[in-house]
Amino acid sequence: MTKRVAIIGAGPSGLAQLRAFQSAKANGADIPEIVCFEKQDDWGGLWKYTWRTGIDEHGEAVHGSMYRYLWSNGPKEGLEFADYTFEEHFGHPIASYPPRAVLFDYIEGRVKKAGIRDWIKFNHAVRRVEENPGGGFRVVVNDSVNDTEIDEVFDHVICASGHFSTPNVPHYPGFESYQGRILHAHDFRDALEFKDKDILILGTSYSAEDIGSQCWKYGAKSITVAHRTAPMGYDWPENWQEVPALVKVEGKTAHFKDGTSKDVDAILLCTGYKHHFPFMSDKLRLRTANRLASANLYKGVAYIPNPDLFYLGMQDQWYTFNMFDAQAWWVRDAIMGKLPIPDEAAMRADVADREAREDALEDDYACIDYQGAYTSELMGETDYPGFDVTKSNEAFYQWKKHKKKGIMEFRNHGYVSPMTGTQAPPHHTPWKDALDDSLQSYLQT
Ligand SMILES: Cc1cc2nc3c(=O)[nH]c(=O)nc-3n(C[C@H](O)[C@H](O)[C@H](O)COP(=O)(O)OP(=O)(O)OC[C@H]3O[C@@H](n4cnc5c(N)ncnc54)[C@H](O)[C@@H]3O)c2cc1C
Ligand SMILES: NC(=O)c1ccc[n+]([C@@H]2O[C@H](COP(=O)([O-])OP(=O)(O)OC[C@H]3O[C@@H](n4cnc5c(N)ncnc54)[C@H](OP(=O)(O)O)[C@@H]3O)[C@@H](O)[C@H]2O)c1
Repeated sequence: MTKRVAIIGAGPSGLAQLRAFQSAKANGADIPEIVCFEKQDDWGGLWKYTWRTGIDEHGEAVHGSMYRYLWSNGPKEGLEFADYTFEEHFGHPIASYPPRAVLFDYIEGRVKKAGIRDWIKFNHAVRRVEENPGGGFRVVVNDSVNDTEIDEVFDHVICASGHFSTPNVPHYPGFESYQGRILHAHDFRDALEFKDKDILILGTSYSAEDIGSQCWKYGAKSITVAHRTAPMGYDWPENWQEVPALVKVEGKTAHFKDGTSKDVDAILLCTGYKHHFPFMSDKLRLRTANRLASANLYKGVAYIPNPDLFYLGMQDQWYTFNMFDAQAWWVRDAIMGKLPIPDEAAMRADVADREAREDALEDDYACIDYQGAYTSELMGETDYPGFDVTKSNEAFYQWKKHKKKGIMEFRNHGYVSPMTGTQAPPHHTPWKDALDDSLQSYLQT
């Protein structure tokens, strides 16, 4: 009997899995039956922009956390697919920090070429996954268009539902009576909403930095960023200040830990996301912090309490698309019996070793090396066209140095592709002046 495999989500991770199986099939392998359930009406995951916030047209939580005018926050040379380069897709070298629409086009180009859209059931939200008494998994899915339920058994489930969608929303005293708008980064869509406004941002990671930069670029009056742990410390523009933690809000006034205060029109909670899998039964639910060595995942993918279940892309991410590929190829080969899954003790030892090595990392450069080595390790065990991760690590190192040098200028730099060796050309317009983020505008030379 042919095995049945369910994939949850058709974002970059789920699409990597579909492409991995399709490539085995193209090489003559007898692959399992694959069904991918995607709750949105299109593929691309976070990279498919939606104007919606809150609840979608079918009553499901809106997945999208991306916003208008978003440009890649890391160099494309760090995420390039080894089996489908940027040059193959666009026909010529392009600059290093593509806007969302350009990256969506690239992601889509590979899967269009592979011809795997028919494997995806769109508008199908997975509601429940549990162990089936007779073996495998019982998967209950809602067909959102017809409002009917599918209840089927699969031998394997691959959860690729992402983990930057369910917001972590803290409460601070005075939020109830605050006389402005409070929103989480997940619901942020358009920086122009904050033109000429004084905004307060909580958080000091990528969302804080990028949403603040967007608001600055599109004309916010001032940006104040409160840090719980440490400031970001970049050389910010003059209408941008970093302050200690928020203590409380009174009326429109935000009060900080050092006794200072500031009147603000809006508070943007860039306070991160939760790994959230409400559709997984208790035993199958991954519980992990957002870290490089995810808890409970052998080789970062096989769920130790039941290794017929896999999770993709659950790590904190320096590497993204090509790491998802390495994971997807590895999972494919584990399912097809080419890679052994060891006993539980050996799997736990693998995770403990990864955690210990992560805990010993001293800085971001070491984290980049670590995740590059992990990607390389998985690639080396499959037929994914390997590439030299020291070259993508190098692009990340330069990115970090360029950010330090000029936080509003780093996107004007270009790097060398680890796949083709081509040096990316500079973009035709400095990022701060490039207000049109369309694909047509970006690809102009
Ligand atoms: C604002 C923001 C900006 C980012 N920018 C970058 C960047 O510049 N560069 C970069 O490399 N990475 C970036 N990332 C990281 C991002 O996580 C990855 O690029 C990538 O989107 C992860 O792919 P994924 O498939 O694992 O998850 P997602 O892209 O989140 O896709 C998950 C898919 O699963 C579907 N799904 C979820 N639940 C269900 C369900 N119950 N049933 C059916 N389907 C379901 C969703 O609809 C979605 O299509 C960014 C993240 C955020 C939040
Ligand atoms: N342009 C882009 O490409 C772009 C833009 C935005 C986001 N992203 C991606 O999105 C992902 C998520 O990034 P993220 O910044 O949203 O999340 P994150 O990296 O998990 O950071 C969460 C931040 O929230 C802070 N925080 C958490 N709870 C808090 C609280 N109660 N009060 C105050 N601060 C609190 C944390 O502070 P502590 O340090 O004190 O814990 C941390 O600074 C990343 O992969 C990133 O690359 C990309």
